[in-house]
Order: sequence, then structure tokens, then C-alpha cells
Amino acid sequence: PLSRSLSMTSLSGVLPAWEEDELPVEDLLLFEVAWEVTNKVGGIYTVIQTKAKITADEWGENYYMMGPYFEQNFKTQVEACEPPNPNIRKAMDALIHNGCQVHFGRWLIEGSPYVILFDIGSAAWNLDRWKGDLWQTCNIGLPYHDREANDSLILGSLIAWFFKELQCELVLFDKPNVVAHFHEWQAGPGLILSRSRKIPMATVFTTHATLLGRYLCAGNADFYNNLDKFNIDKEAGERQIYHRYCLERAAVHCAHVFTTVSQITAVEANHMLHRKPDVVTPNGLNVKKFSAMHEFQNLHSTSKARLQEFVRGHFYGHLDFNLEKTLFFFIAGRYEFSNKGADIFLESLSRLNYLLRVINDVTVVVFIIMPAKTDNFNVESLKGQAVRKQLWDTAHTVKEKFGTKLYDALLKGNIPDMNSILDRDDFTIMKRAIYATQRHSLPPVTTHNMLDDSTDPILSNVRRIGLFNSRNDRVKIIFHPEFLSSTSPLLPMDYEDFVRGCNLGVFPSYYEPWGYTPGECAVMGIPSVTTNLSGFGCFMEEHVTDPAAYGIYIVDRRFRSAEESCNQLTQFMFSFCQQSRRQRIIQRNRTERLSDLLDWRYLGRFYIHARHLALSRAFPEKFKVDPIAPLKGFRYPRPYSVPPSPSASIHSTPHHSDVEDDDDEPYDEDEEAERDRLNFKAPLVLGAMP
Ligand code: UDP
Ligand code: G6P
Ligand code: GLC
Repeated sequence: PLSRSLSMTSLSGVLPAWEEDELPVEDLLLFEVAWEVTNKVGGIYTVIQTKAKITADEWGENYYMMGPYFEQNFKTQVEACEPPNPNIRKAMDALIHNGCQVHFGRWLIEGSPYVILFDIGSAAWNLDRWKGDLWQTCNIGLPYHDREANDSLILGSLIAWFFKELQCELVLFDKPNVVAHFHEWQAGPGLILSRSRKIPMATVFTTHATLLGRYLCAGNADFYNNLDKFNIDKEAGERQIYHRYCLERAAVHCAHVFTTVSQITAVEANHMLHRKPDVVTPNGLNVKKFSAMHEFQNLHSTSKARLQEFVRGHFYGHLDFNLEKTLFFFIAGRYEFSNKGADIFLESLSRLNYLLRVINDVTVVVFIIMPAKTDNFNVESLKGQAVRKQLWDTAHTVKEKFGTKLYDALLKGNIPDMNSILDRDDFTIMKRAIYATQRHSLPPVTTHNMLDDSTDPILSNVRRIGLFNSRNDRVKIIFHPEFLSSTSPLLPMDYEDFVRGCNLGVFPSYYEPWGYTPGECAVMGIPSVTTNLSGFGCFMEEHVTDPAAYGIYIVDRRFRSAEESCNQLTQFMFSFCQQSRRQRIIQRNRTERLSDLLDWRYLGRFYIHARHLALSRAFPEKFKVDPIAPLKGFRYPRPYSVPPSPSASIHSTPHHSDVEDDDDEPYDEDEEAERDRLNFKAPLVLGAMP
């Protein structure tokens, strides 16, 4: 069956080509199972959602995603329809006739994949029986109070049941063969139960973290220096996650093929789960190319203008800094304070504040986007935007009156008397508007009322370092404890537009199996800080000769103390602040060039390889695959014109001048890109690639 050969060359022509036998997908069915299918929690949703397009392109009608049904998600993201495949309809009906609700439709994202969603609540009455089954099968007992684990068992039991019914239909024809790909421990029970019931299918399990890794790191363990020393059963028990960890470990060992998202997590998994991943499947993105080369620069400019408006409102009465010399930095993600590196970020910001006060006239506004428990927006933040709006309206009214009088005067052939063109009323409304901007408090650090204000780790640290948005601070902080949304009454921007408007993303994570946020910045042409403890940072170190030249600053958190990492991060941010506008524009162009490397059209090959491998292990007589990993040793070269370090590039970029901050002509990078391409060919020809 493996007759044709699938050849994937890169989009730009600079990435290595790859050949792998194409699967006869018409004789196969692919199911991908995850708790985050149509259900956004964090990065796993991004994996599933962005990968849908290339997977649907390859598998067409034979590709199905499975996850939990939530009414609100279904209503807003899914178009209900009939399953095109009668066997799937029959398998669903078997569950439905037994009182369990199963929903089918097309997920309204690029690629429009089919989704099969299982209603956990409708099947909850089976929980005790299914707990018994799990215990009988693998001696894992789930405590009644762990809702998440219980839900994952219900989902898994429904999925295993579905596969069993499906198999009864398929076995009649001896095909198609099924590939089932499960993500993360919450999808584990479906895999464990399907395998224990000997349902013939090829299985892949991908973990996006290890439970123990995440917990140990959050608990301040010296994790990476002690990977081989932890008593993992004991650690799991002490953290009351023993049962979850058992589910995770059992799923890992049941799968034909085990994968994880980065090399660093592969090492971790080997220690925490005792299986070495068969394939590393790095996370990609669904990259959209603009027809105009510099469109992303224009988008930066328009989104930045919107952020500037927000900042004008937030800092009303204290706007004594120049917005043209203000840079926007941000950190975003699930609120795992130390794992996401918010601790060293805040510490470095206090140092940056000191340096900028002494040496520079740049102001940095830092946005912290991490969801915490809140009770809505606070009055002061909403008032800020209202005051700004009022000033805008006042200016507009006075401008209209002024314009009419000026026009009348010109029609009569006069230059109006500028001293009387505005009357007393105009001055009155302007004065009143200005009086309204007086405030007796500093611009707020948070945009919301925090429920745990006094114990919140970000706020506690802001108090410690004293960054309260005072006039003489050069670093200002805005903590937005909610994910962004274009329907927000305060900051109506979605996350993508927000990122585009910023100058630098800062993600100094300590525990980060992959870390989508810096990669998302890169494809939008926004530079970012990452670390050599994040999967993404390690991937960049491995595949890009000089990441900093491309606007990817990698903080060393592996071989340096926290103090040294803070200093390095401070230095990165301070150097960034010293760049001219022109240098930032050039750097954004380079950053955006990394998109090809992060595109699923390139990285999807690892998933393809994992599926082949699983089929060859589950059905060895039918499927064969070359066991060697599809890629090794590829590196993106240094951009032709760039010296090796970011601080050096500040001083030696040929176009640099001290007064060029208004020099915002888009830089034409074509020539540089072409030179890079030529420069690039050499190692390829020399056989660095497979
Ligand atoms: N994100 C978002 N809205 C926000 C902030 C973040 O949708 O306001 C998304 C972001 O686009 C990214 C995901 O949250 O895809 C976080 O994924 P990451 O892999 O960085 O971390 P995880 O949460 O999985 O640990
Ligand atoms: C883009 C736009 C320029 C704008 C610049 C701002 O490059 O094309 O017109 O001046 O962004 O860049 P900055 O780094 O200052 O935010
Ligand atoms: C996990 C990890 C994150 C990764 C994401 C997607 O949630 O914490 O680092 O990017 O999964 O793989």
C-alpha cells in the first residue's frame, strides 16, 4: 500500500526537503482526541486548532477530532451536521441509544475538521461502574473529589466504547484501519481502555508536559539538576496527584508510539514517565503569508496606535511621557507565576526601571496578561478610558467650531483673528475637560478588581519592587488578569492584534515544554525573549545559528543562577530599548522570516512520521516505515548582514544614526534575504541534511 512518495519542499526554498511514503488515507481513519478540542484552556488548543488545516488537507473526510461537549462551545464554534460515514453514525447511535449524548459537526476553523463531542454530564451516572472497570483493568483508583480526573475517565470510557462499536462495523470489511492519536493525560483513559480491550488500532500518545514536571517546578524544586534523583511515586503521592500520574504513565506505556513536543520534555518524560519518546513532534503554526511583504509592519503600526490610545486613557493626568518614545512589552499565558517566569520578569523590570531612569529617555509600558480570579474591571480603569473619550470629543467639538469659523472667514477673503476665533464657551468646555483629568491616585496597576489582591503573587511582587506607575518610573505596569477579547469594554482587541501592536514579548519560563507565545510573536514579526528551558527556545538554539539576530533572545536559565538570569534578561531588555526605530523595523523583518521554520506545512512532517510508525507497529504485515527520524541537523544561517550579538548589532548596523527615531521608512529586505538564501545553500549541498 505504501506506493507513492510524498515530497515536501519548503515554502521559501531554504528549508530542507523531505520524503516519506504517503499513507493510503482512503483506507484509513484518523481520530485525534484531546480535552481542548473546541475547548480553549491553553496551548494544546492552539496545537489542535492550528494543525487542523494540514491534517484535513491530507486526510479529507477521514479525519475526526474527539473531545468533551460543552454547550456554549458547541453553539459558538461548531456547525452541527450528519456524519458522512455510516459506520461512525452507527457507532454514535449505539452510545446514544444507551442514554449518552454524542454530538457531531464541523468545527468552524481553518480546515473545517469533523468533530465528535461527548457529553460528560449525560454519561456521569456510569461513573462508579467505569471507575470499577478502570480498577479491574489497571488498578488505578480515582478519588471522588477530583472532578477533572473523573471527567477524563467518563470521556475515555465513552471514547473506548465508541471505538469498540466502530470496530464491530469495520471488522466486517477488514478495513479501514484506524489510527487514534491521544493528547495529554486527560485523554489517557480512552487510550488505556481501548488497548486493554484489544481494539485493533494504531495508537499515538503525545504529552505536552509531564504532570510531575509541572508540579515540581511550580514548587521551586531544582528540577533540571535532579531529574534522575526524584522518587517519582513519592513526589506524586505527596502532591495528591498519584492517580493522575498513574493515568498519564499508563497511557504513555500503552501507546504504540509515544511523542512529546520538544527535546527537553523528551528527557524529562524519560525520567518522570520511564519511556523515551519515539518521536519529538514540535509545535507549528498555521502561518498566513501576506501578499504585500510589509503588511505585517503596517499591522504593527495600526495595532500600536490602538494600544497607544488605551495607554492615553489608562495614564490620564499622568501622561508626562512621550508615547513616540514608549515601547510596549508584554507577558501572556496561563497564570503559573514561577513556571512562566513572571518572577524573574518582575525582578528584571525593577532593574530596567533603574537603568532607564539613569541613562535613557525611553519609557516601557508592560502588559501582563494572565487570567486570575477577579470581580470585573475596576472603576479607575474604566474611568480612564471614559476621560480619554471625553477629551477626544471635546477636541473634536472645538475643532469643528474652529473649522467653520475659519472657513467662513476665508470665504469672505479674511484671515480670521486668531485671538478671537475661540470664544469664552470654547475655553470653558476645554478647561472643564482638563479639570476632569486631574486624579489624586496613581494610574492603577491592575485593570480588574482582584479577588486575592493581598496574596496574589504578581501584585505582591509589584509591591515589593515598588513599581506603582509613579511619574518618575520609566517602567509602567498594567496587569490585565483576563485573556484578551475584541468584545471587552476596556481594551477591545483580540490577542493577535494586541501582540502585533507590541514591541517585545517576554517569556522567561522555567517550565515550558514548548511555549507557543514566542513563536506566535515571531510569525507576526514581533521579537521576543524565551529561555533555554523552553521547548521553543531549545528548538531555536538548535535550528537557528544566531537567534538574537532574528529577534529571539534566549535567556540562559539552565546553567546560570536566578540572579544571573535576571541580569541577562535585564540586559536584553535594556539593549532593546536602546535600538532606534529603524533598527526595530529591520529586526521585525528578520523575525518574521522565521515563520517558514514554524509553519505546520514544514513541522507537520513529524506528526506524519509518528502515525506511520504507529501503523507499522500495530499492523506490521501491512505497513512499513523507515524508523529513522525524518530530520536532523538542519540550521538556519545567520542573516548575512548581522554581527553575532544584539548589542553589537545596535552599534554597527550600517544605517544607524542617533537621530533617526522618525526614520520609519519600511526597510527593503529583499536584497538581504536573497543574500541569505545564497549563503544558505552551501551547508545544504554539503549534506548537512538527510
Ligand atoms: N493566549 C490567548 N489569549 C491571551 C493570551 C494567550 O489566546 O490573551 C493563547 C496564546 O495564543 C497561546 C496560548 O494561549 O497559544 C498559550 O500557550 P502556551 O503554549 O504558550 O502555554 P500553555 O498555556 O499551554 O502552557
Ligand atoms: C512599522 C510601520 C512604521 C512605524 C513603525 C513603528 O514599521 O511601518 O510606519 O513607524 O512600525 O515601529 P516601532 O518599533 O516604533 O513600534
Ligand atoms: C502545554 C505546555 C506548553 C505547550 C503546550 C502545547 O500546555 O505547557 O509549553 O506549548 O502544551 O504543546
